[in-house]
Amino acid sequence: MSDFVSSFWSYFIGVIALGGIAFCVILLFSQRAWLKSDVDPLGNTGHVWDGDLTELNNPIPRWWTVMYLGLCVVALAVLFLYPGVGAYKGTLEYSAAKQVKAEQLALNEQIKPVFQRFQQMPIAEVAHDAEAREIGQRLFLNNCAQCHGSDARGSGSFPNLADSDWLHGGSPEQILQTITKGRHGMMPPWSSQIKPAEAADIAQYVRSLAGLASNSLRVVPGKRGYDTFCVACHGAEGKGNTAMGAPNLTDNVWLYGSSEAAIVETILNGRQNVMPAQEGILTEDQIRVLTAWVWGLSNPNKRVATK
Ligand code: HEC
Ligand code: HEC
Repeated sequence: MSDFVSSFWSYFIGVIALGGIAFCVILLFSQRAWLKSDVDPLGNTGHVWDGDLTELNNPIPRWWTVMYLGLCVVALAVLFLYPGVGAYKGTLEYSAAKQVKAEQLALNEQIKPVFQRFQQMPIAEVAHDAEAREIGQRLFLNNCAQCHGSDARGSGSFPNLADSDWLHGGSPEQILQTITKGRHGMMPPWSSQIKPAEAADIAQYVRSLAGLASNSLRVVPGKRGYDTFCVACHGAEGKGNTAMGAPNLTDNVWLYGSSEAAIVETILNGRQNVMPAQEGILTEDQIRVLTAWVWGLSNPNKRVATK
């Protein structure tokens, strides 16, 4: 696919690339004294200054001109073989992205032996292997820290991975699934069915679930609204549901804040939160070691007897 949004830019670049070469050839041709064999190698304009400063008019040396024409031929050949003339891809079908991909594959092949030792180990065991932990941390810093923080404790809508509170489950299998396939946390918007005042009452009830200060008069109608609209995902007690990625609302761990305003915003407009899938970016081996590293953060003491 071309990166240009309009085909105009493809022609624009094509004209500049080919036009530049054509211009060089025309320029050389217009100065074609070098074609003649009887050129005075020291063309003299006849201008003399200060008695002994003579202005010469040497023609361009022939070797230089031939070299320049040769460069034009090389340039045309490169533009024929490689991308350069607008959206034309070149006969070699070369692309920088393909080159990077090939280099990555070669590198993955090269580092395979390092991961071999972990392939047969249970994840709980990999989590406490010193070498795997080092690799896991480096992978995390390079691929995950920009969202989850370098200490994996998250911030804002990016969840903390070092506590034992899980949106999608904290077993090694669930974490592996999260990292491999990604997750899409979606809290539906309710503004078409819930009025702002009613949402504020529900927010008071949600705050009471978390043990936060709440208005006891508004908690009663709030509970009615909660039981109607929210139990399906967050559960009757507000403890959430990892199968749906619905957070526990009772634990005072908040992605979007616990103020009435923040909760009302969540209820009325919903929330969308995407964890990008890593398959295709990282290898299976890398994802397994990362899974172990993440799992180990909240299971520091579950040491497993080594074989
Ligand atoms: C672009 C930002 C981004 C990057 C990069 C990212 N994540 Fe996430 N991750 C998220 C978001 C957002 C969520 C929450 C999804 C939700 O709300 O359901 C999440 C959720 C998770 C969860 C589930 C947490 C839970 O409570 O169930 C795990 C585990 C996780 N990420 C691990 C990783 C790992 C390991 C990496 C690096 C390979 C990574 N993430 C890279 C944004 C990111
Ligand atoms: C279809 C399932 C579903 C329903 C129904 C639902 N929620 Fe949610 N809710 C979610 C999911 C999933 C998330 C997490 C969004 C994310 O990952 O960012 C969420 C997030 C939240 C949050 C943010 C928690 C935090 O940590 O900041 C609050 C508050 C909340 N919901 C309250 C409610 C209330 C109140 C209702 C009823 C009006 C409701 N939800 C109905 C699925 C649901």
